[in-house]
Amino acid sequence: MKKKLYIKTWGCKMNEYDSSKIVDLLEMTHGYLLTDFPENADLLLLNTCSIREKAQEKVFHQLGRWKKLKKIKPQLIIGVGGCVASQEGYYIQKRANYVDIVFGPQTFHRLPNMINYVHQYHKKIVDVSFPNLEKFNFRFKKKFTKPVSHVTIMEGCNKYCSFCIVPYTRGKEISRSYNEILREINHLATQGVREINLLGQNVNAYRYNIGNGSVLRFSDLLRSTASINGIDRIRFITSHPVEFTDDIIDVYRDTPKLVDFLHLPVQSGSDKILRIMRRFYTISEYKSIINKLRKVRPNIQISSDFIVAFPGENENDFQETLDLISEVKFDMSFSFIYSARPGTPAADMNNDISEKNKKKRLHILQNRIAQQSMQVSRRMKGTMQCVLVEGISKKNIGEFFGRTENNRIVRFIGTKSIIGRFVNVKILHVYSHSLYGKIIHIEK
Ligand code: SAH
Ligand code: F3S
Repeated sequence: MKKKLYIKTWGCKMNEYDSSKIVDLLEMTHGYLLTDFPENADLLLLNTCSIREKAQEKVFHQLGRWKKLKKIKPQLIIGVGGCVASQEGYYIQKRANYVDIVFGPQTFHRLPNMINYVHQYHKKIVDVSFPNLEKFNFRFKKKFTKPVSHVTIMEGCNKYCSFCIVPYTRGKEISRSYNEILREINHLATQGVREINLLGQNVNAYRYNIGNGSVLRFSDLLRSTASINGIDRIRFITSHPVEFTDDIIDVYRDTPKLVDFLHLPVQSGSDKILRIMRRFYTISEYKSIINKLRKVRPNIQISSDFIVAFPGENENDFQETLDLISEVKFDMSFSFIYSARPGTPAADMNNDISEKNKKKRLHILQNRIAQQSMQVSRRMKGTMQCVLVEGISKKNIGEFFGRTENNRIVRFIGTKSIIGRFVNVKILHVYSHSLYGKIIHIEK
């Protein structure tokens, strides 16, 4: 009987992507089959995130539950990876001695060897090193069947925003080889992938030195991706305002395949707070990027990340964030209460905002964003939207789903043959988290 793998993933798109690669990798090397039930598994993996909250405690809480399973099945292997693993290393096994493997965001490709080691020597192993881009040397022979695919173009972050743990857990910025990325996208296109989402902590920090003093940048990569036959839609996440240079705006002007949607984290509407956050732009610079973009793409929707109740944020600073939200008319966005991360500079800053006030600010901000994003959705009612059909909807029988350019899920009646094709859908109903429509035209 084939061995089974259960994997639990917390965190960002990068973590989800890493987990999907882990599943493919272990299926290829060890024949592991994915299961939805931890009690059926022979290998339990936890891919962790430490960006907010008491992530560390959450990990040990989860491990405590798995410890019971290992008591019943002593040959069960337990592995912990991701950002908490990167941060805590050996400490994880010190506190939870039943954990066999600790791996980092840059060493998951070594899991097959680590599993062999545990089997062979009955010993524990930790590898949270940063062996640069080694993990990308691993080639996936698996057939991709989904029409949308993510491709990592760079890893890590050098920005050291004063609140953020990422540069410590994922290491410094490193860009993958230009040709490797394009080869991967070309391969995906031959497998039927139509939409590519370029991934990285700061995709626009992408730089690839091709010798003779020339450096290829993110804008070059966007143009090359757009020139690949079969790829008809391009997204990326996440970019940083500091490196959102005019050459990227030019790509928006010239490249219809690049969606009319941009996620550009601003964090706060107050210059004072941005300075303490070490974001290295002002609100006027941020707005200038948006204005330039809207000149070449009048209908572009902008989404963002916000942190409320950062140390030193007073009512006036918070009001400036609300004003910015109204002015830029941000669409669906992510917002969080600031959470002190051990080891980051902001963790030592004095924060005298009460818990009640923190929650109140988050609530006000989220309401404002929800209202604005509902307005955008309402305006879409009656319009025709181009949707890439991603699959069968779990909600109602006979229904399929896909996304609009501005990231809204749309459901509609269809047949299996439309999966992986672009359809024109007339929007009939607007709900808080999705839209419902009718297919008017199917691409050939
Ligand atoms: N590289 C991206 C995303 C980093 S993490 C960028 O350029 O911003 C995703 C989001 O988590 C951040 O944009 C920020 O809004 C939030 N975040 C990061 N650290 C946080 C912290 N300590 N407390 C609360 N939110 C945080
Ligand atoms: Fe974090 Fe700032 Fe980098 S939010 S990921 S340190 S750009």
